This record gives sequence, structure tokens and C-alpha cells, in this order.
Amino acid sequence: MPDIRWTEPAGQEPGAPSGAHWHSESGAPAPRRVTVADDRMKADAAYRLACEGTALLWRGDYQGARQLLKALGRRLDRLTPKPGATPAETFHRHRQARGHRARVLGMLLVVLEEDHSLALRRAPDVRQACVEAYGPPERRTAVSLRELLGVIGAHEWRKKGVEIPALGARIHPHYGVFSPVRGEYVDLVATAPLPAAAARPEGTAFDLGTGTGVLAAVLARRGVGRVLATDSSPRALACARDNVERLGLTGRVRVEEGGALYPEGRAALVVCNPPWLPARPTSAVEQGVYDPDSAMLKAFLTGLADHLEPAGEGWLIISDLAEHLGLRTRDDLLAAFAAAGLGVVDRHDAKPRHPRAFDPGDPLHAARAAEVTSLWRLAPLA
Ligand SMILES: C[S@@+](CC[C@H](N)C(=O)[O-])C[C@H]1O[C@@H](n2cnc3c(N)ncnc32)[C@H](O)[C@@H]1O
Repeated sequence: MPDIRWTEPAGQEPGAPSGAHWHSESGAPAPRRVTVADDRMKADAAYRLACEGTALLWRGDYQGARQLLKALGRRLDRLTPKPGATPAETFHRHRQARGHRARVLGMLLVVLEEDHSLALRRAPDVRQACVEAYGPPERRTAVSLRELLGVIGAHEWRKKGVEIPALGARIHPHYGVFSPVRGEYVDLVATAPLPAAAARPEGTAFDLGTGTGVLAAVLARRGVGRVLATDSSPRALACARDNVERLGLTGRVRVEEGGALYPEGRAALVVCNPPWLPARPTSAVEQGVYDPDSAMLKAFLTGLADHLEPAGEGWLIISDLAEHLGLRTRDDLLAAFAAAGLGVVDRHDAKPRHPRAFDPGDPLHAARAAEVTSLWRLAPLA
């Protein structure tokens, strides 16, 4: 049974209802009302329908669909929310506006045929990008064009990779895996003094929430004998394995099966770069950014003492963006360290260099401009 149905306009196909399965990475439900649209549809009419919750199944020119998506985006740009009374309120309004934007833009749909191809005029070949993001094709599937553009962008990044100066190599992020485009936190891990027991051929480190595997690779290149990497996301585990192999580090970095945060046993160094903002992710792609109720942060802290060798250290990489947004206080963070029986050995700070930190048009600009990323060196209190 198809998840969504529509009626083909008379003259193209025999006017019979058509359908497809539905896929949405953000878990958006299948739209209940779907109308067929093509290049004759005016942006204002499309915007009205999309705002009312009617999905537009695109049958025109692929480039025309991209133009329409841009036109819808321009209309949504006019709805910039007013700043709230507090930074936290501004952040929540910003997220609400982003959610509304995603829902409206997500109403422009395209159909991926049974081999993941697009049967639209001037459409690119998206089959490989879709295999990478969704797996092998199974059936005719409707997706939002906006999501598909993300899948295509991710494919390009995966091919090209992200240069990591600390590795002297590129890391290749997969779709839905946190990409190390913000180099400052990688540099912190590349330069903080390693615990003596880790920097030996028999030394062990854990990298919790490894994502692309970038920090595990940096530790291995710094001379840690064996790095065990974990992640709750199967996409991240596959991506980390791919990067470890490309870098020739398969003998030194083991990407663990399963989704447990901590591997078995103890290590001289445990590194954790959890998502930095305590909020609920709304899609798989956001799982590297939002940590609901700081669950991963708390699990890292409470498990640390039981997983460290004597004189071992835990390195928490986290920015203070959540503090500037009023989502967490510095005291909350220090209290969480103390509650887990941990003391601070030292802290190394870096200023972000990414372009959003310098964009005054960003509604969160003040918080981003003040942001500092820190590597907290933690050890159990005696
Ligand atoms: C901010 S990203 C960091 C990725 C990588 N370590 C880096 O520094 O680029 C956080 C990672 O933690 C993973 N993650 C989130 N919650 C988790 C959990 N409860 N257990 C294990 N991994 C988790 C996410 O899938 C994501 O890959």
C-alpha cells in the first residue's frame, strides 16, 4: 500500500490516482493532501498551499522545482521572529521558526523511482547519493526536495572530504553524521597534553560519540596505542569505519559494534564531544547538535570514574553556546562534574572560527560571537 496518493492530471497519464511510499528523515508524517504541480504553478499559490499543509508533487522541470523552493524560502525569510525577552526565549522562537520553515519547504515533493532515479526534466543523477543516504533502492518513494538537496550536498562532502590540519588528511563525512567543519575543537584534542599512560603503544583511549571518527584518528596519530570508538548512530559507526580505513588506522582504532556509550573495560583517556545544546533533535541530522536533557553529557560524566585507569583523564569537549543561550549555566556544568565525583585538572579554550560566528544577520549572533569552545580535563576526585 502506498503511503501517499494523488491524482494525475488528465492528459498526462490517464487521470488515475497514483501513489508512492513516503520517507522523511525528520519523521514528518506522510502528507494527507497531495496535488500535482509543475512549472506553471506560481510561487504565491504554491506558498499558500504549502502553508495550508497541501503537498506539491513536482512533475515539471527539476531546475524549476529548485527555483520554486528558493521562492518559498524567500517568503519564509520575511517571517523572522522577534527577539524574545531572554536569550532562551529567542532561541526557542528561532527553533520554532526553523520548524515552521522546514514544514512548509518540506511540502514540495519529488518521487524517487524504483532505482532511486528522478524522472524529471534536467534532473541530475541522484542514485549514488540516495544509496549512500537511504541504502539500496527498494520501491518508488516520495521525499521532500529539500531533504533530497541535503542528500545531494552530503554526497558531495563525502566525495570531497573536510581537510583536518591536525591529521594532515581529509575526513569524509557521511549523510547524517556530524561533520568536523569547526576545526577549533579538533585542534584542542590535537594539542592538549596526553596522560602519560595513554601515549604508549599499549595505551588505550575511548572516543565516545565518535561521529566521523575524527578525534579517534587524531588520538591514534598522536601515539595512543589503541582507540575504541563508540556511537549510538549506525551511520556514524559506518562513517568512522570508512575514515579509519582510509587513514590506514584499522589496526589502531576499533569502531565498536552496538550503541553502548562506554566500551567494556578502562582507558587512560576518555574523550567525549557530546552535542553541545540541551534540546530535542528533530531529525537524524540534528543528533550531533542537540542532546535532549543533556543525556549524553550526564552519561559520560557519571560513567567516567568507573572507566578510567589510575591517573587517567576524561576530556570533555563542549562550547559555552548553551550558556549564552540561557539553556544551561556554568554552575550547572560544574555541579554535574562534582556530582559525578570529578575535579577539573585544567581547561583549554578556543574561539570558534566558523563563519556563523561572524554573521550579524544570524538571530543567535550575540551568543555565537561570544562562544568559547573548551576542552575540560577531568579526573576523579581523590
Ligand atoms: C557533536 S557529535 C561529535 C562527533 C565527533 N566525536 C566529533 O568530534 O566530530 C556527537 C556524537 O555523539 C553521538 N551520540 C549522541 N548521543 C549518543 C549516545 N547516547 N551514545 C553514543 N553516541 C551518542 C552522535 O551520534 C554524534 O555522532
